[in-house]
Amino acid sequence: MKVAFFDTKPYDKQSFEKAAEQHGIRIKYFETKLNEDTVDLAAGADAVCVFVNDTVNAAVIDRLCEMGVRVVALRCAGFNNVDMKYAFGKIHVLRVPAYSPYAVAEHTMALLLASVRRIHKAYIRTRDYNFSLAGMTGFDLHGKTVGVIGTGRIGRVFIGICRGFGMKVLAYDKYPAADLADGKNIRYASLDELLAESDIISLHCPLTEDTYHIIGADALEKCKRGVVLLNTSRGALVDAEALLAAIKSRKVGAACLDVYEEESELFFEDFSGHILDDDTLARLISMPNVIVSSHQAFLTEEALANIAETTVENITGFFATNQCPNELCYRGGSAEDCKCGKCF
Ligand code: NAI
Repeated sequence: MKVAFFDTKPYDKQSFEKAAEQHGIRIKYFETKLNEDTVDLAAGADAVCVFVNDTVNAAVIDRLCEMGVRVVALRCAGFNNVDMKYAFGKIHVLRVPAYSPYAVAEHTMALLLASVRRIHKAYIRTRDYNFSLAGMTGFDLHGKTVGVIGTGRIGRVFIGICRGFGMKVLAYDKYPAADLADGKNIRYASLDELLAESDIISLHCPLTEDTYHIIGADALEKCKRGVVLLNTSRGALVDAEALLAAIKSRKVGAACLDVYEEESELFFEDFSGHILDDDTLARLISMPNVIVSSHQAFLTEEALANIAETTVENITGFFATNQCPNELCYRGGSAEDCKCGKCF
């Protein structure tokens, strides 16, 4: 069985070579992303393996089908880069629903702590033997209210970490979990209440039509002055221009972003020495109260091993049995149409 692997990074190759050898599949690695211009590289393959910034739109799906590729294996959980409505009935889309919620949740807390305790500044200062503390005052997380939007696998782990810090939790989810709220320290609320009451807001919902720009100008207006915004989910959950305006007006006290709306042409690549064309990102990065990491929340040894193992099992399992427990079945674009219960 042949797999064309797009957007390859050295760490992918390491983890996938091991898993592929164990399962007897041949992987051809391409550094380029999958899109309409590169799709022909998949000629002769049975499956393509793609990541978060590969483009699987209608044109790409049509060409893959013409070339006899039967499977798109996502080596990630989110699938907003796949035109699922168009894919339905044409090509099988498999994903890795969970590889390490701990990796993402822990990175979210790492960003929060770095931001509120100014670790990013301390690191640079002390390397220059500057031991002054001016401007380094942070605040305790204990007793603060964190608003968690999306209480699935990652949101729940993040809530557990926050509870360890003695924080109160307000949660918002389109499909609240019956067993999460304790009525005291963890409570479901409306989105408006969460926005108004939270000192820190963390996004852990998927990017869908419903959640596109869920944090935009209106939502930011409803927030507490000085709110800290964390986004380790998907860039387009936040309207980056509105966020920038809210930082300039001092409404937002700090932002930690592992994802960015227009990241696909930038993140995972080295642009040092280049002039960045994206003024919004450049301005955000220039802010003293913004920390940007390059979609690295998932990047732990454990997560990489799980991703490789599950992706390879998804592909081999599908070709052996014509089905896969991790196949997405997004028929019409709504939860009611999903027959597997996993797409939403
Ligand atoms: P999950 O599917 O377990 O949980 C998502 C939760 O969001 C569910 O409880 C769902 O009901 C809720 N939700 C759906 N629509 C909503 C809406 N309109 N409003 C509020 N809540 C809504 O997913 P998981 O594993 O927790 O991942 C969450 C997201 O994290 C993924 O969709 C992905 O975008 C992102 N992610 C980011 C990574 C990174 O490296 N930065 C790595 C892995 C995932």
